[in-house]
Amino acid sequence: MPTVLRTVGEVSAWSERARREGRVALVPTMGFLHEGHLTLLREARRRAERVAATVFVNPKQFGPNEDFSRYPRDLEGDLRKCDSAGAEVVFAPEERELYPAGFQTAVEVGELSRGLCGERRPGHFRGVATVVTKLLCAVRPHLALFGEKDYQQLQVIRALARDLDLGVEIVGVPTVREPDGLALSSRNAYLSAEDRKRALAIHRGMLAAKQRVGAGGRAVRELVDLVRKSLASEGLREDYVEIVDAQTLKSLTSVSPERPSRLLVAAFVGSTRLIDNIAL
Ligand code: PAF
Repeated sequence: MPTVLRTVGEVSAWSERARREGRVALVPTMGFLHEGHLTLLREARRRAERVAATVFVNPKQFGPNEDFSRYPRDLEGDLRKCDSAGAEVVFAPEERELYPAGFQTAVEVGELSRGLCGERRPGHFRGVATVVTKLLCAVRPHLALFGEKDYQQLQVIRALARDLDLGVEIVGVPTVREPDGLALSSRNAYLSAEDRKRALAIHRGMLAAKQRVGAGGRAVRELVDLVRKSLASEGLREDYVEIVDAQTLKSLTSVSPERPSRLLVAAFVGSTRLIDNIAL
């Protein structure tokens, strides 16, 4: 089983020793690990000699009416999964270890944080950027891996690592899906069997848009409508459906083969908010 480290001092000391022996990779998570996280850990193991995971449900990235208190937690199960996927240590701090009394610093990434989830979840990316910066400073890995499932988050983290000269390579790993297309997410645990079936409308809609692009469709409005129709067919409530430049995340009015674009969707299945995205 991986060693559980509880303090910044312990994980920094581990990393200092590990860095003398090879490349160190970090996989930050909020726990309740699924195959998507395990893919990150296996990829980390392929790229580095020493692998650490973090398990910390970060209160700063949840809004006041969001699911912080009921977010699923299972440290014992996570440790077994980390063991099987090659993590040598798991940094699982208490909240007061990362945010002791008097903590008053935040990391804010500009433009990239503003639209999409940033607009619907005020303060979310400030919370993500702050905790990820702290984790990267504590562990000082050579590389850190994040899923493309949280596409805006990945771009925000790339920006903070670059802008703050953290000297860490940020690696994005493709989304892992169930055989029927549902993107893996810890929040899928909230879905009833019926809602899980309805949630497939997100992926179906994204595929319809991608197929239309393959057949020559270029107008964003038409592509977005295809996704909206699919969401509506299962009674899902749209939070947003947007097509943006894959790097800047700026809205587009048309897609073009010369400029990578990304379709991003957030929708409510009952009270569960799911996000997904696809390259067009
Ligand atoms: O993607 C997540 O699980 C979280 O947002 C992260 C990156 C671990 C920060 O808390």
